[in-house]
Amino acid sequence: MTTYLSGIQPSGFLHLGNYFGAIRQHVQASELPGEHFYFIADYHALTTVRDPELLRNYVREVAVTYLALGLDPQRACFFRQTDVPEVQEIAWMLGCQTGMGLLERAHSYKDKVANEIKPTVGLFYYPVLMAADILAYDATIVPVGKDQQQHVEMTKDMAGYFNNTYGPVFTVPEPKMALEEHFQTVPGTDGRKMSKSCGNAIWIFEEGKPLKKAIGKIPTDSRAPEEPKDPDQLVVFELLALFLAADELADWKHTVRTGGEGAPGYGHLKMRLVAAIDEYFAGARARRKELLEDPAELERVLLRGAEVARERARAVRDRAFLACGLR
Ligand code: TRP
Repeated sequence: MTTYLSGIQPSGFLHLGNYFGAIRQHVQASELPGEHFYFIADYHALTTVRDPELLRNYVREVAVTYLALGLDPQRACFFRQTDVPEVQEIAWMLGCQTGMGLLERAHSYKDKVANEIKPTVGLFYYPVLMAADILAYDATIVPVGKDQQQHVEMTKDMAGYFNNTYGPVFTVPEPKMALEEHFQTVPGTDGRKMSKSCGNAIWIFEEGKPLKKAIGKIPTDSRAPEEPKDPDQLVVFELLALFLAADELADWKHTVRTGGEGAPGYGHLKMRLVAAIDEYFAGARARRKELLEDPAELERVLLRGAEVARERARAVRDRAFLACGLR
């Protein structure tokens, strides 16, 4: 049995980088044969979000975003991390087998501290909690983007330490994370990787004027529309490539490369991008609005997911308790 699992941190509103870099792959993967667990890593968000109202908003927004973008809670178990307390118990047992050195090598921790995020014990311990998330459900495949791959590698190490000491308790996730190559890096409105901390992000559900404004920030230069240009050097084309059908994209590239009369200017290309985003997310925007109108139903969906998740996590926790002598 293949068990897919992934988590997403509610540490900001989700942007196009999160969509093409993770969410879309999660939704697609959830249609494959096997079991599926997708959860909102709210405990993880607590390492960086210190405003309670904001954290609540982010959690709700992540839930609504996944459902609006097509995750089917009947096929995939979708829940909040904090609704499965067994994960914390498993994390402690793993932590007691894990050397400080392993955690000290975590790129993500080092990067965050370099970016002036407070180096708390929680931030340092983050990979242990993430390992528990994965091991609590006997996950075999963990579809994550590049920035999280080291954490998955560390999970295998932690499962190995525990299993070496106490016997085969945890399922070690598969070394080859299928789907990995489908995780796309999306450029932000300044051409660097889209990221909430760079101020270059486009929120998935942005529309109307704010969307036009965000797209307006994409860098351009003073070359006239008629002047031939290399489309592959233009950020606006990298974004268009995410939304347009291949033949339409090829047509636009051709006219830009050729230049001359009738070739599109930057404003024209940006308008096409706005329209393409509007088309692409029209259905999801409408579903998001509906979901936001019924918070009680949203809560029920998450709690139903948690019930299934908890049953599995409890069994794994009990196995670990017995193996290490806590029972
Ligand atoms: N750390 C992940 C992120 O920031 C979120 C996460 C938490 C996760 N636990 C996980 C991802 C377990 C995959 C599996 O995106």
